[in-house]
Amino acid sequence: MAVTRTFSIIKPDATRRNLTGAVTKMLEEAGLRVVASKRIHMTREQAEGFYAVHSERPFFGELCDFMTSGPVVVQVLEGEDAVKRNRDVMGATNPANADEGTIRKTLAESIEANTVHGSDSDENAKIEIDYFFKPEEIVG
Ligand code: RTP
Ligand code: MG
Repeated sequence: MAVTRTFSIIKPDATRRNLTGAVTKMLEEAGLRVVASKRIHMTREQAEGFYAVHSERPFFGELCDFMTSGPVVVQVLEGEDAVKRNRDVMGATNPANADEGTIRKTLAESIEANTVHGSDSDENAKIEIDYFFKPEEIVG
């Protein structure tokens, strides 16, 4: 299996509860390495651009409100089959449906305040990494 990269966000519900370390520990224990990381407060414009694919969905406005409600930690993660590995440890979007031991089952508050984002394909991982990081910020 090839070593690849994915993009992760530790969402405002997690930064508010001081859980960035707890989330990162679960990512690392799942075999992912944080090769870039920064804490930012997204602007409305950044959030709307990032979630543009969901712009017609009924929850789009609330999602952008939530993602700009506090700081987030954006990360590039590296590992074998990183996109799938990360999605597996994240668990289902709705924590009520997430498997035991996943980040969302263990830590998430609700379908919206669900603690983490992870890219859903290699193609989107590249787009999302490029959206938040310059190449020189990814240091291994
Ligand atoms: P993410 O993109 O954040 O990694 O999560 P995901 O792939 O599991 O879920 P996605 O369908 O891409 O939805 C993006 C985010 O929108 C919020 N959401 N709210 N109220 C709702 O019904 C609803 N559905 C989705 C969640 O925060 C989800 O992570
Ligand atoms: Mg998604």
